[in-house]
Amino acid sequence: MVVRLSLAVTLAALSVTAVQTKSHRDIPDTFSSIASCVDEPSTFSCENTAPINNTCCSPTPGGLVLQTQFWSTWTGLERTGQLLPEKSWTIHGLWPDNCDGSFEQYCDLSRQFDPTPSPAILPDGTVVPAWKGPGIDTFVSQFGRQDLLDFMQKYWINQGAPNVDFWGHEFSKHATCTSTFDVACYQSYKKHQDVVNFFDAVVRAFHRYPTFSMLASAGIVPSNQTAYSLDSIQKALVSQTGAIPFLGCQANGTVLTEVWYFSHVLGTEQFGTYKNVNSTTNSTCSKTAGIWYYERTKSSEREVRA
Ligand SMILES: *[C@@H]1O[C@H](CO)[C@@H](O)[C@H](O)[C@H]1NC(C)=O
Ligand SMILES: *[C@@H]1O[C@H](CO)[C@@H](O)[C@H](O)[C@H]1NC(C)=O
Ligand SMILES: *[C@@H]1O[C@H](CO)[C@@H](O)[C@H](O)[C@H]1NC(C)=O
Ligand SMILES: *[C@@H]1O[C@H](CO)[C@@H](O)[C@H](O)[C@H]1NC(C)=O
Ligand SMILES: *[C@@H]1O[C@H](CO)[C@@H](O)[C@H](O)[C@H]1NC(C)=O
Repeated sequence: MVVRLSLAVTLAALSVTAVQTKSHRDIPDTFSSIASCVDEPSTFSCENTAPINNTCCSPTPGGLVLQTQFWSTWTGLERTGQLLPEKSWTIHGLWPDNCDGSFEQYCDLSRQFDPTPSPAILPDGTVVPAWKGPGIDTFVSQFGRQDLLDFMQKYWINQGAPNVDFWGHEFSKHATCTSTFDVACYQSYKKHQDVVNFFDAVVRAFHRYPTFSMLASAGIVPSNQTAYSLDSIQKALVSQTGAIPFLGCQANGTVLTEVWYFSHVLGTEQFGTYKNVNSTTNSTCSKTAGIWYYERTKSSEREVRA
């Protein structure tokens, strides 16, 4: 009995060791190379006076970086388990606007992984072909990054279609226009490492702007009884970020659904320092009417922090 027990313990210990060794060996790096950037002068994006010679070192021309988030009360795919994270806004994306607030989209069709391109035809007439291949989540799995996928499944939520479609859309529409994620910025590029590198960067940027907590700290919590003024919501966020974000509303400016945080970045979008700057776009929320920051339908959300 004693012998059998100790054998079982030994075997369990061995298998734990084997699993740990395997996973250490199997997770490849996905970061870009900044070796050629270290001796270059660096300034915040959109604040450079000299031209940026190495576009892998600073996002350009899309140097006005937006971390965008949604507040929605339902997903439409609740029956499949696609739920919203309790006490958190959700990720929309990380966008490279030009310094004047205009923007490019779908800049590299060899990295088009969006199954439902929007727009499907660019202003210059270029057709963006729908992606028919495997979901972009499979690229992340190939790099062994279940931790990243788990986070995205909790906080990067689509409405009316699976989350993975939305992730493919955000990568192909926006990251392909962000110079620091160009394929050329990776030393001995491994196919799709830029996708993983981008998703890591989006998650890192999202953590900088805890909208739900910032608003709650100022006494602004979702309510179906009390509406808030645009001014009070704006002031709460400005007091923590030092800059005016864009607030988006629907229903004639009365229902809060979006926030966009603008920044200039020193260094790369993936590793650099973000400095918050004022929005270049006026809010679509009413300046006079009350604004509803609705409570979610209970069955549309779940606790994800456990
Ligand atoms: C770009 O290259 C020029 C000429 O080599 C150099 O003088 C300048 O300092 C460089 N600028 C940056 C931002 O690296
Ligand atoms: C939208 O709001 C404006 C200004 O508050 C008001 O004049 C207009 O009637 C509203 N439209 C609708 C469809 O509620
Ligand atoms: C942002 O906007 C506020 C309010 O209009 C203004 O006081 C502030 O100077 C602006 N910040 C910058 C950096 O322009
Ligand atoms: C934003 O609104 C102000 C007035 O409230 C106006 O002067 C300004 O032109 C608007 N800016 C944009 C980008 O629409
Ligand atoms: C609050 O109102 C919104 C919008 O009408 C609705 O979707 C949601 O289910 C309501 N939440 C609760 C908890 O009543």
